[in-house]
Amino acid sequence: MTQPRSFGHLLLACFLATSLLSPRAASAEAAPTLRKRADAHGLLIGSAVSLGSWDERRGEELSPLRDSPRYRRHLRKQFNVVTPENVMKWDQLRPGMDTFDFSLADELVEFAEAHGQSVHGHTLLWFLALPDWVTEREWTQAEQRRLAKKHIRRVAGRYAGRIHSWDVINEAVDDTSGRLRDTMWTPGRSDRIIRRAFRWARKADPNAILCYNDYNHADMEGWQRTKSNAVYELVRTLVRDGVPIDCVGFQFHLDHNFRQTAVAENFRRYADLGLQVQVTELDVRLPEPITQADLNAQASIYREVADLCLDAPNCTSLIMWGFTDRYSWVPWFFDGWDAATIMTRGYKKKPAFWALMDALE
Ligand code: G3I
Repeated sequence: MTQPRSFGHLLLACFLATSLLSPRAASAEAAPTLRKRADAHGLLIGSAVSLGSWDERRGEELSPLRDSPRYRRHLRKQFNVVTPENVMKWDQLRPGMDTFDFSLADELVEFAEAHGQSVHGHTLLWFLALPDWVTEREWTQAEQRRLAKKHIRRVAGRYAGRIHSWDVINEAVDDTSGRLRDTMWTPGRSDRIIRRAFRWARKADPNAILCYNDYNHADMEGWQRTKSNAVYELVRTLVRDGVPIDCVGFQFHLDHNFRQTAVAENFRRYADLGLQVQVTELDVRLPEPITQADLNAQASIYREVADLCLDAPNCTSLIMWGFTDRYSWVPWFFDGWDAATIMTRGYKKKPAFWALMDALE
């Protein structure tokens, strides 16, 4: 191509180049996607992103965001928000007490920004995924407070203005008792650090939406009743006392037996508190061997959760915990279960993908 002599020529050259896209490439770019349909609803739809994920089967670190053009293509085409599966957790960010390694987290944020995507930060304080230098010694409550404050101010501060929302606190409520867990961040089941964490995060990044995130608390009735009410009570007291919380995250790690009766009512009571709700980690695991009936049941459940979010005026985001079975956490954590996402290991779109497309029609 001859060198363009002016800006006008450069524009013309660009127009000609793009208009010469092969028909197949042009039609692929024009095809409907989850992202386009979610944009039309003003909804964020996204996926957890694997970087530096350990594959026990292969015994190696996998980083599809870096190594797989197919992964990257689907990620940018189908989603308008991404969340780090692991790279913003303490065990990935904090090699030592006085050191931070933001390299992988930066890679994800830069990818999102390059493709006009939002980032949901996960997670500032969690009692799991802590490095050995944290778990292998005792800490006084004053030391725990200083540790949490330093971490939140440094991490939330580094990405200030670049993170759409943060899981400030992850999974602080016990599954069965409905009490706060007794952990590093809630010593003696105290919520003092929780309250401070939201204030530190607000100060570090005034623009970020600040969330409390947990699992198995979506249904106000049935077996989730105790935890659902406990999470609500915790959040209600935070709002009452002026703690800067904006949002509650519902993880929705489900299996094919998912049944719910009172999730919409739960979303509504958070709306009454003036809070957003987000679906933060949706996946629907299936028992092996996987059958077509299971895949169809899975699609119905994805559709049901999408409709719950679309029908709730305060539900702003639907994020899945991975979009291809190839990098799902499920087979490592649930022996005999698999196929939890919306695409196969070979990126074939499953009935669940099309169920979401229909929900977003
Ligand atoms: O990167 C290291 C590698 O260097 C090391 O050799 C290897 C073996 O020890 O471990 C690798 O880290 C693993 C990491 O995933 C990255 O692959 C950790 O062991 C492993 O525990 C970690 O599992 C993650 C888990 O959270 C704990 O952080 C899962 O991938 C991730 O899907 C899961 O996600 C959680 C959410 O954060 C919170 N909600 C529940 C959800 C599912 O458990």
